[in-house]
Amino acid sequence: MKSENYSRIKISFVALCFFILTPLCHGDDTITSSHSLSGDQTIVSAGRIFELGFFQPGNSSNYYIGIWYKQVSEQTIVWVANRDNPISDKQYSELRILNGNLVLTNGSKTPIWSTNSSSTTSKSAEAVLQDDGNLVLRDEHNSTLWQSFDHPTHTWLPGSKLGIDKKTRTVQHLTAWKNTDDPAAGLFSLELDPNGTSQYYILWNETEVYWTSGTWDAEHQIFSLVPEMRLNYIYNFSYVDNENESYFIYSVKDPSTISRFIMDVSGQIKQLTWLSDTQEWNLFWSQPRQQCEVYAYCGAFGICNQNSLPFCNCLRDFEPTSNSDWNLNDYSRGCARETPLNCGNHTARKDKDCFLSYPNMRLPEQPLSVTAANSEECQSICLNNCSCTAYAYDGGGGCSIWIGDLLDMAQLSDGDVSGKTLYVRLAVSNFSSSSKKKMSICGVIGVVAGVTMAFCFRLFVWKYKWHKTTTTKRIEDSLIVFGYEDLQNATKNFSDKLGEGGFGTVFKGTLPDSSVIAVKKLKSISQGEKQFQTEISTIGTIQHVNLVRLRGFCSDGRKKLLVYDYMPNGSLNNHLFHEKDSEVLDWKTRYRIAVGTARGLAYLHEKYKDCIIHCDIKPENILLDAEFCAKITDFGLAKLVGQEFSRVLTIMRGTRGYLAPEWISGVAITAKVDVYSYGMMLFELVSGHRNTMQSNDGKVNFFPNWVASEITKGGKDILSILDDRLEGNGDGEEVRKICKVAWWCIQDDENHRLSMGQVVQILEGVSDVSMPPIPQSLQIFLGH
Ligand SMILES: *[C@@H]1O[C@H](CO)[C@@H](O)[C@H](O)[C@H]1NC(C)=O
Ligand SMILES: *[C@@H]1O[C@H](CO)[C@@H](O)[C@H](O)[C@H]1NC(C)=O
Ligand SMILES: *[C@@H]1O[C@H](CO)[C@@H](O)[C@H](O)[C@H]1NC(C)=O
Ligand SMILES: *[C@@H]1O[C@H](CO)[C@@H](O)[C@H](O)[C@H]1NC(C)=O
Ligand SMILES: *[C@@H]1O[C@H](CO)[C@@H](O)[C@H](O)[C@H]1NC(C)=O
Ligand SMILES: *[C@@H]1O[C@H](CO)[C@@H](O)[C@H](O)[C@H]1NC(C)=O
Ligand SMILES: *[C@@H]1O[C@H](CO)[C@@H](O)[C@H](O)[C@H]1NC(C)=O
Ligand SMILES: *[C@@H]1O[C@H](CO)[C@@H](O)[C@H](O)[C@H]1NC(C)=O
Ligand SMILES: *[C@@H]1O[C@H](CO)[C@@H](O)[C@H](O)[C@H]1NC(C)=O
Ligand SMILES: *[C@@H]1O[C@H](CO)[C@@H](O)[C@H](O)[C@H]1NC(C)=O
Ligand SMILES: *[C@@H]1O[C@H](CO)[C@@H](O)[C@H](O)[C@H]1NC(C)=O
Repeated sequence: MKSENYSRIKISFVALCFFILTPLCHGDDTITSSHSLSGDQTIVSAGRIFELGFFQPGNSSNYYIGIWYKQVSEQTIVWVANRDNPISDKQYSELRILNGNLVLTNGSKTPIWSTNSSSTTSKSAEAVLQDDGNLVLRDEHNSTLWQSFDHPTHTWLPGSKLGIDKKTRTVQHLTAWKNTDDPAAGLFSLELDPNGTSQYYILWNETEVYWTSGTWDAEHQIFSLVPEMRLNYIYNFSYVDNENESYFIYSVKDPSTISRFIMDVSGQIKQLTWLSDTQEWNLFWSQPRQQCEVYAYCGAFGICNQNSLPFCNCLRDFEPTSNSDWNLNDYSRGCARETPLNCGNHTARKDKDCFLSYPNMRLPEQPLSVTAANSEECQSICLNNCSCTAYAYDGGGGCSIWIGDLLDMAQLSDGDVSGKTLYVRLAVSNFSSSSKKKMSICGVIGVVAGVTMAFCFRLFVWKYKWHKTTTTKRIEDSLIVFGYEDLQNATKNFSDKLGEGGFGTVFKGTLPDSSVIAVKKLKSISQGEKQFQTEISTIGTIQHVNLVRLRGFCSDGRKKLLVYDYMPNGSLNNHLFHEKDSEVLDWKTRYRIAVGTARGLAYLHEKYKDCIIHCDIKPENILLDAEFCAKITDFGLAKLVGQEFSRVLTIMRGTRGYLAPEWISGVAITAKVDVYSYGMMLFELVSGHRNTMQSNDGKVNFFPNWVASEITKGGKDILSILDDRLEGNGDGEEVRKICKVAWWCIQDDENHRLSMGQVVQILEGVSDVSMPPIPQSLQIFLGH
């Protein structure tokens, strides 16, 4: 009883003090000549949003003056004063006003950092931490002498500018920390184009530009190369350009959202918002999208691999220059040789150096082009110059060599056809037996595929013979030319029919090496032989995990056949619409199929050198491999079949299937027609039946409309729109996301549709999407 009374008294005493002292404590957000900071003291902005004081990042033993969010549980630094000059002890260090400047002194009163504002006469300057995170130094006339917003470190806060001061010719940078334990300026920085255009650059070591936003498109409020900004409903960016300065400034539309924009140690710019429910930062958006697109991320002699963690590895027989940096995910110092090269070392044994081959690589930066008649000559040019560290031979006399460090290499995925083989020089003494077996080439170049390229089709192997081949992998990236009889035998005279599509009939077959194939007998081809082969050679080079691989073809007079990998689980439509003879695809699988198909299409549209429009996206053309991974088939055929395809389209016109409105209106066709069809297909993936379905009362229902009316009616459980066979088992968030994406894909105006790249980002959760408008052409169905 007594102690309870006591604590009550104590509480009211504290409350009393608080009320009485509040007016006096007004300086809690201010550093004055009589109020300095040291040790654990901090100042807090008036609205208790930001806090300033000494902090110690990660496992570092150093201290820095920084600003962080007062309300965010995980200490998140938004600004650092002395990023390049840490102090070792906070008790005897002091942040104070000195001769009109804000100055940080260390234990021996040596100035470590200063605001260095020009006016040093002001005696009664004050530094105030504002609720927007800005630390402002003002003189006695209340005019600003200095503000932290003019000197951002790695964070760009809402309300602050990031641009160029044209009068002082200073360019503001956001510069990444060196690593998570060290706020010192790292190698990656973001700046507005110093030449005065409205685009941002990301630079490596202040020289190499590896990403650009494209210029500002004021009408659409996006950077031209960041079209996904169209989907942004959180931020409001604006661009100001006058005679004194040019800059961007942004605000968060919902002021209660805690949000920041950073130049991350990963070399990517990121926008993050704080989720107070889960107490974590949520990545809203980042660029460049892929870690390996960051220039020289893995440093010299490091290889970046997007599909492995960690992303960085050293070349074989190299080791990290600094293991401690490497462990902090700071790869910038790269790798060093374990064994020095023999070349140029007169005391060494007279062994020559060797070359280790790395297939399917993005080659290092800054090659020197030299002329060499063949690969051996290219190799010997490199071998004879001790500074040469690697070479690559591109056929046709294209020999590249590298002098010194190898920077910005990446191991590409199997599906990526832009990969090249790099030969890296190593000391022969350190050729471990395993690497020898794998790929050593010492003085002699490896076996060159014994094929003479008699024709211009570089990727063709014309002399295909059954008995000569033991494995199908022997010649990578090449198409096999089949004889008609070979395919007749393989398919048992075209007896096992798999299906029939717009482009022809498909049969199952087995090759003598017992690999299973699908043979497509094309309907009449309007093109001549040469054109046909050119088209096919193009299709043959398109490879991606979400595309069915074309293995070869047969062209025997009017008989044209294409040979593909066989997909054991058939086409998506069988699983979605024919319930009797197939197992039900669960929600996870459906989601994976949606993502996989999007990736495949994004590759066709955006990654492949010429944009390939599929023109016929529908569940029939999405095949499923043994793991139910989606593979798009029939890509590239629309162009090949030409007139025949127009006829197919004519038949389809008027039915509301997968055809975008522009097919009917007759305007030029872009990749957005595929987006439309994809959107339509997503609805079917969700509902498990065709979008257009006749109901029992004979009325034609259109599923997307129904979804829209369900969503706009609101309240209803989103899972109720799912395929009945799933019995409500699905992820509500994913269903909602897919429906939103689908709606964005079927917008009437193709400019409003998403790109496939954006679809991938959204489905992968890298970016978010707002509620789409309902297309005009569908609104009429909704009746409100
Ligand atoms: C600090 O070091 C310990 C052990 O060395 C490690 O487990 C921990 O993850 C590190 N923390 C940070 C923030 O790096
Ligand atoms: C303060 O900084 C100066 C200059 O960097 C240095 O010589 C001195 O040792 C530092 N004093 C302490 C106590 O860290
Ligand atoms: C302030 O000026 C000194 C000397 O001119 C310089 O060494 C220091 O880096 C400057 N500090 C800041 C924060 O600009
Ligand atoms: C000083 O200026 C700021 C804004 O520039 C203003 O909010 C504040 O009220 C001013 N203070 C005085 C004492 O005039
Ligand atoms: C910017 O200007 C410099 C020199 O004026 C020039 O070398 C550079 O190419 C320009 N960069 C761009 C992107 O226009
Ligand atoms: C960055 O550039 C400077 C000179 O501009 C150079 O001395 C330094 O080695 C470069 N850093 C790296 C990691 O290459
Ligand atoms: C965006 O910011 C600009 C300038 O700050 C302002 O004029 C405009 O009204 C804002 N727009 C929205 C939608 O908040
Ligand atoms: C540019 O600076 C001058 C002098 O400081 C000022 O008078 C003028 O208003 C400024 N212009 C703009 C557009 O802010
Ligand atoms: C030269 O080779 C010898 C023997 O292999 C080795 O001990 C020495 O360190 C090498 N010298 C250089 C400069 O690499
Ligand atoms: C190696 O090649 C580089 C670039 O061509 C050249 O500058 C250098 O002189 C060459 N070194 C020798 C020893 O030939
Ligand atoms: C060669 O490389 C291996 C690791 O790959 C290393 O253990 C060895 O010390 C190196 N040197 C020699 C001479 O084998």
